[in-house]
Amino acid sequence: LSAATEVRCSQMPTYACHRRTPLNHHNQTITNALEILARSAFFQESDVRYLGFTRAASTLKALPYKLQSVNQAKDLPWCGGHCMIVIQEILEHGMCREVEVIKNNEHYQTMELLTGIYGVGVRTAQRWFKEGIRNLSDLKTMECKLTAEQVSGLRHCKDLQQQVTLEEAERVGQLVKDTLQRFVPDVHITMTGGFRRGKEVGHDVDFLITHPNENALSGLLEDAVGWLETQGLLLYHHLKKRKPALRSASSSMDSHETCYAIVALPSSSSPWNTDIEVKKCNSEDAERIAHPESPNSLNSRTWKAVRVDLVVTPQAEHAYALLGWTGSKHFERELRRYSLREKKLSLNSHGLYDLEKLSGSLEC
Ligand code: CTP
Ligand code: MN
Ligand code: MN
Ligand code: MN
Repeated sequence: LSAATEVRCSQMPTYACHRRTPLNHHNQTITNALEILARSAFFQESDVRYLGFTRAASTLKALPYKLQSVNQAKDLPWCGGHCMIVIQEILEHGMCREVEVIKNNEHYQTMELLTGIYGVGVRTAQRWFKEGIRNLSDLKTMECKLTAEQVSGLRHCKDLQQQVTLEEAERVGQLVKDTLQRFVPDVHITMTGGFRRGKEVGHDVDFLITHPNENALSGLLEDAVGWLETQGLLLYHHLKKRKPALRSASSSMDSHETCYAIVALPSSSSPWNTDIEVKKCNSEDAERIAHPESPNSLNSRTWKAVRVDLVVTPQAEHAYALLGWTGSKHFERELRRYSLREKKLSLNSHGLYDLEKLSGSLEC
């Protein structure tokens, strides 16, 4: 290693938001192992261990060269203790025993499977595991106990487990644009999430919607949902109203008006895709697409279920929402931690708040 590289290594910033974290980096084997340990901790609801492994993996993603010895890692932020043992084992043996054991562990595998279903969080998956649920057939036997979200998640899990490609994301974008513009022709739409960070695949497609005139935004999501439903393109949706009361500096909870949806994305060769402004599907097609399990849809599927998040913000909050919804989750967590600890500013996807001024204004 050149002296220059060694210097860069010892100067690695501790906050992830101060580092470049490229998608393709030099230490994939180690970061994959650390992220499995992080997910395993997450499944056990051990936040401290989850964060520790996540931070170590994040540090190594930013390293501009492939680690050759533990000595090179010893001064890197967050890479001590347990992580160091993992790093050493992988450097020496090409794999880590603890990670291999986890990968074959029944709890870990079941939690991966269950939390992979839309609408199923760690708490729910834990409960189901304790109740003896091990696979999707087990889950189908208790469908009556599932939430509407989980029923849709289960129904479309084959499609939703497949990654969304950039090409599909762009077609979702076109569909969202065509839909929203029917109601507000000059609406402003931005694709956010992983695709905005340059990823070529994702688990969903995220959009931010705004307009200089706030009145133009009122009722827009309801209108969009209604229209997509008449087209048979909406498989599931949950509308979350804007909650101004929650929109405070202390809350990291996002309270933008949001639509969490599963859309039926027509395949690129499908008639829906040619020009949805002009071409409308007939009600029989709509019925077929809305109820994918109905018999006549089994042979000729012309669509794929895709998760879509639509977030509406007033123009004044758009920049903060754009920052907050671009991710990654770890980058956002670190950015907020940096703001709070080093700048005494509270950041969320609605704004940036000076805590001293704020507490002053609360006192008087
Ligand atoms: N986010 C948020 N509030 C939510 C959900 C998500 O602020 N209720 C933010 C998260 O910080 C995340 C970004 O929006 O970084 C996108 O979330 P998500 O779609 O879950 O992740 P992506 O980074 O887009 O990755 P993927 O490809 O898996 O979708
Ligand atoms: Mn996303
Ligand atoms: Mn995700
Ligand atoms: Mn999302």
